[in-house]
Amino acid sequence: MRVAIVGIGHVGLPTAAALAHIGHDVRAIDSDGAKVAMLGDGRSPFYEPGLDDLISEGVSGGRLKFSTEPAQVIGGAAVVFICVGTPPRASGEASLVAMERAAETIAAHSSGDVVVVQKSTVPTGTATRLGEHLSRYNPNVRFHVVSNPEFLREGHAVEDSLRPVRILVGGDSQLAFEVMRELYAPVVAEGAKWIETDVNTAELAKHASNAFLATKISFANALARVCELADADVVAVADAMGSDPRIGRAFLDAGLGYGGYCFPKDLASFERLSSRLGYDFGLLREVARVNEEAVESAFKKIEQELWNLEDKRIALLGLSFKPGTDDTRFAPSLELARRLIDAGAHVVGYDPEAAENARAEVPQLETVDDVYSALRDAHCAVVATEWDEFNDLDLEKTAELMAFPIIVDGRNVFDRAEMARHPFTYLSTGRPPVRPSRTERRGPEQGDQWA
Ligand code: UGA
Repeated sequence: MRVAIVGIGHVGLPTAAALAHIGHDVRAIDSDGAKVAMLGDGRSPFYEPGLDDLISEGVSGGRLKFSTEPAQVIGGAAVVFICVGTPPRASGEASLVAMERAAETIAAHSSGDVVVVQKSTVPTGTATRLGEHLSRYNPNVRFHVVSNPEFLREGHAVEDSLRPVRILVGGDSQLAFEVMRELYAPVVAEGAKWIETDVNTAELAKHASNAFLATKISFANALARVCELADADVVAVADAMGSDPRIGRAFLDAGLGYGGYCFPKDLASFERLSSRLGYDFGLLREVARVNEEAVESAFKKIEQELWNLEDKRIALLGLSFKPGTDDTRFAPSLELARRLIDAGAHVVGYDPEAAENARAEVPQLETVDDVYSALRDAHCAVVATEWDEFNDLDLEKTAELMAFPIIVDGRNVFDRAEMARHPFTYLSTGRPPVRPSRTERRGPEQGDQWA
């Protein structure tokens, strides 16, 4: 099937590459010529595991093409996906300016019957507005608008595009449903659950899914605060809760809170939409407040331990909003970096992928190319993103390199018993602190005179 993709970011690009992989003739558009050239060479402009290979496969097989020309991409397409950004306005509402611009371009280059798929995350009611505007811009085309929200996770976008858990399509046109069933048939054959609804329901289901996952995280973070006061272990509590299938263990990891370009903005947008419709969804404001508290709690732990932050060197391990991506948008790590820098600390960050993006957002942040350079002479190390390589840290070397062996673990990556075997002050999230015993603190060469 001839498919056009408008907007080739974190959603559009994996979607385009996956649809080409299952055999469709996919053309994608972007106004940035340099980006189009890079994609034509089979390279993704951002880091996403497996995506370069999938793009190369599509490009070399002739099923995936990139262009700056709308006529080449949209003209002749049976299905046009809109995957443009919906950034937050100051009010928290999503800006739909890019959506309307996409509609205008699509309308100018379409003919006959065209299925327009709204994949961007948008407030309920957007697909209806989109349909009205498409027809206004070009009354001669029969547009069939559907909502097909994406549930891709950054860092797993390839896997989630090729083997999604569910495919949700909301619409009111039989022709559109038939086209969408045919489009996704190979993916459904692999086991994806197929769900059809009306458009408003599909749009709302997407916002509700992200809001619910964010609520689970904030519940775990609020629980972490209580566990810290009660000397209990939030990981063990989450394990016990999560063993009940009605609750589930996923998204109950306490830490620095959620970030990224989805949860913070989608939650705000959903809260604004509910309010505009006449319902005060105060729970969502509380979820966002608890999320901000997570960074603040880590900041207070560091401040409490270091006494004065001025002139202290702090190693920040992990800068992306989560592992597996170089995306630093709304990253809790950077929020913490800003707080520490404002308080006078010198923050040295390390991240296997996201250093460049982090520096662009926080220019006062120093970044280094290996984790031990960040740890050298640090008065405190903070784990902000749970990259796998932090599990393999040489703890003995770490303790020796640091000026003060203090670790604040904002993602609970280390085992407390293991940390207790080293001279660390180990402050994790929602778990009892580990402090060096007096023997370890004074050092072996000083014998028993302090006993
Ligand atoms: C999220 C959803 O998981 C996807 O289903 C959705 O398609 C996507 O938003 C979107 O709307 O585009 P993503 O933002 O890539 O995906 O990342 P998640 O894996 O959901 O993590 C979001 C944040 O929550 C990260 O900062 C992560 O560190 C944090 N998190 C996650 C926790 O703090 N605790 C947890 O237990 C889980």
